[in-house]
Amino acid sequence: MSAQIRPVLAGNWKMNGVASSLSELSEIVEGHARFPDVDLVVCLPATLLSRAQPLVTDSGVAIGGQDCHADAAGAHTGDISADMLVDAGATCVIVGHSERRADHNETSETVARKATAAWAAGLKAIICIGETRSEREAGETLDVLSAQIAGSVPVEATAANTLVAYEPVWAIGTGLTPTAADVGVAHAHIRAELTRKLGDAAMTVPLLYGGSVKSSNAAELMAVDDVNGALVGGASLKAADFLAIAAVFGKI
Ligand code: PGA
Repeated sequence: MSAQIRPVLAGNWKMNGVASSLSELSEIVEGHARFPDVDLVVCLPATLLSRAQPLVTDSGVAIGGQDCHADAAGAHTGDISADMLVDAGATCVIVGHSERRADHNETSETVARKATAAWAAGLKAIICIGETRSEREAGETLDVLSAQIAGSVPVEATAANTLVAYEPVWAIGTGLTPTAADVGVAHAHIRAELTRKLGDAAMTVPLLYGGSVKSSNAAELMAVDDVNGALVGGASLKAADFLAIAAVFGKI
C-alpha cells in the first residue's frame, strides 16, 4: 500500500451472474459506506451493466466491463465496444486478462489497442499482465512482465486512465498465491519498467495484485510495497467475501 495512492479493490465476475445476482452488488454498495477510503469497482458481465447502473449511482462504487474491442465500431459480431460499455454505465474496463489472452489469442499489441480504445471512450483501463506456471518455473517471470509492459501498456498511460494488474496465471482460481516476497519483487519490477516507459506519470499508477485473493491472505499481500489494491475473481461474487477483503484494506 502507499500513502499517495488510494487503495482499489476491483472485482471481476467473469462469466458469472444474471439479474438476480445484482442483489450482491446492492449489498456491496451498502457495505461501501463502512470503507470510505477504499475505491470499490465491480467488473460485471456486459449484460448486467445497464441494470446495475441505477444501483451504483452516487454510491462511490464503480462498475466496469471485462473486455472491449479495439475498434470503436463495425463488423465484429458478438463484440462490445468501449462506447457501448460507457453507454451502459461502465467507468472502467479490464483489458488483457490472461483468460482473454489464452481463450481468444489476444496479443499484447491487441491489448494495447484495446486500452487506447477504452481511453478514447472515457474509460479507465485495467491492464492485466502475468506469467504462466511454466514461465515462472523457467525463471522468466520478470522478462515476461517486461515484455508484456512493453507491448500492452501504451505510452500515453497515466494514473488518471490506467491501473495495472499483476496476475500470475497459475495463481488465478487455484487457491495458490506467490509469497509476499515474490509479489514484492514483481511489483517493484513493474513499477520500475512503467517508470522507464512513462516517466514520473508511472509513480501513481495503481498496481493491483490478482490471483486467489481472499480475506485470509489480503492483509499479507496488501502490506507489500507497490501493491495498491487487488483484482479479485471468485471472492468478488459474494458481497460478504468481497466486503471482508475491503475491511482488510480499510485497516492497512
Ligand atoms: P481469482 O481470479 O481471484 O478467482 O483467482 C482473479 C482474476 O482472474 O482476476
